[in-house]
Amino acid sequence: MADDRLIVALDVHTMEDVKQLVSKLGDSVSFYKVGMELFYSVGPDVVKWLKAEGKQVFLDLKLHDIPNTVAGGMASLMSLGADILNVHAAGGFTMMKVTAERLKEESEKRGIPCPKLIAITVLTSISQEEWEGMGQTANIKGQVVRLAMLAKKAGLDGVVASPQEAGLIKESCGSDFLIVTPGIRPANASADDQSRIATPEAALLAGATHLVVGRPIRAAENPRAAAVSIVEEMGRVR
Ligand code: C5P
Repeated sequence: MADDRLIVALDVHTMEDVKQLVSKLGDSVSFYKVGMELFYSVGPDVVKWLKAEGKQVFLDLKLHDIPNTVAGGMASLMSLGADILNVHAAGGFTMMKVTAERLKEESEKRGIPCPKLIAITVLTSISQEEWEGMGQTANIKGQVVRLAMLAKKAGLDGVVASPQEAGLIKESCGSDFLIVTPGIRPANASADDQSRIATPEAALLAGATHLVVGRPIRAAENPRAAAVSIVEEMGRVR
């Protein structure tokens, strides 16, 4: 029923909201994303609860600090059992490399599975205008690919990127490299605050390996029906 390539963003504030949404979605969703909004409200228990429910978890805390601090933070987080963790590629090559190595060492030492580590390239909410406002002169797509290749060289398993950049990343980093794409909007859905969006089918065709979907499912009148419809659309691309 569920498609492991669909990750539903749990951008809510309480355990009660989590339990309600997860129960409404039932077997239509197997993978959830816990972001800072939820993690900072309810703490680590939410990851443990989702794992106990048999779900996969992408813990999206987007760490960005000096190498030693990020590697240490990740070593603490990995005890929760999340399947995917992430850092900002803008933290640099050394930070990514040291963190990936630390996760491998810790998983061997503790005999627990090593989570996938992926990098954020450029947030999908950043428009060209905003990008230039930050003093950036490089083309956004070029920068996304540069950061993706840097992440791969540092030993990371993939990146978070906009669906519009998935094709270029796949070309440069190969098909084993995870490409997790938010900014997914089924045809006719509101874009909300996302700038670089695509439909589920278009994102997969472009090379995305996983789709992160939040509001189009969470805010739907019938979240389960919305999830099922996205899963069906995804089933057309293998
Ligand atoms: O509601 P919506 O489908 O826009 O949710 C997208 C999710 O993906 C949010 O949790 C957001 O924080 C996350 N995300 C994103 N762009 C990135 C990285 C993560 O939208 N580059």
